[in-house]
Amino acid sequence: MAKLPIVTLPDPVLRQVSKPVERIDAALLKLADDMLETMYAAPGIGLAAIQVGVPRRLLVLDVADKDATPQPLTIINPEIVKLGSETRSYEEGCLSIPEVHVEIERPATLAFRYTGRDGKIHEVSADGLLATAVQHEMDHLDGKLIIDFLSRLRRDIVVRKFKKIARG
Ligand code: NI
Repeated sequence: MAKLPIVTLPDPVLRQVSKPVERIDAALLKLADDMLETMYAAPGIGLAAIQVGVPRRLLVLDVADKDATPQPLTIINPEIVKLGSETRSYEEGCLSIPEVHVEIERPATLAFRYTGRDGKIHEVSADGLLATAVQHEMDHLDGKLIIDFLSRLRRDIVVRKFKKIARG
């Protein structure tokens, strides 16, 4: 496995809409493994392929407690089946926007469907951190970021800061 560089704000790649994965082959599974290694090293609980520069609908997650057995998930071509009506507020971070946290209210539960590493369709009902993290990562597949939940003024401040950092 290899650790990959993570794309950060303001790289326009993060705004791309990712295309469906068409074939689950060795190269795709290697990418998923590398993404997991990158995510654990960061450390983070989720990573979308676009965050390592690959515009495909692929993401990895592990929302297990730090001291618990790892529970890596590889999620290919996810789709929301149903969003719950209750909401949950959580202070979200993003490996592509280091040191920025945004309090985001999202549906607290959802059912989603995805293709697994085995090529089979899985349907999962999620709540808690998994529900939040899946929605965050699925936003990445559509080019959406946590700063989009901020007011325009606050978003501009964050983007300006990252542009300045990128210029060195
Ligand atoms: Ni993120």
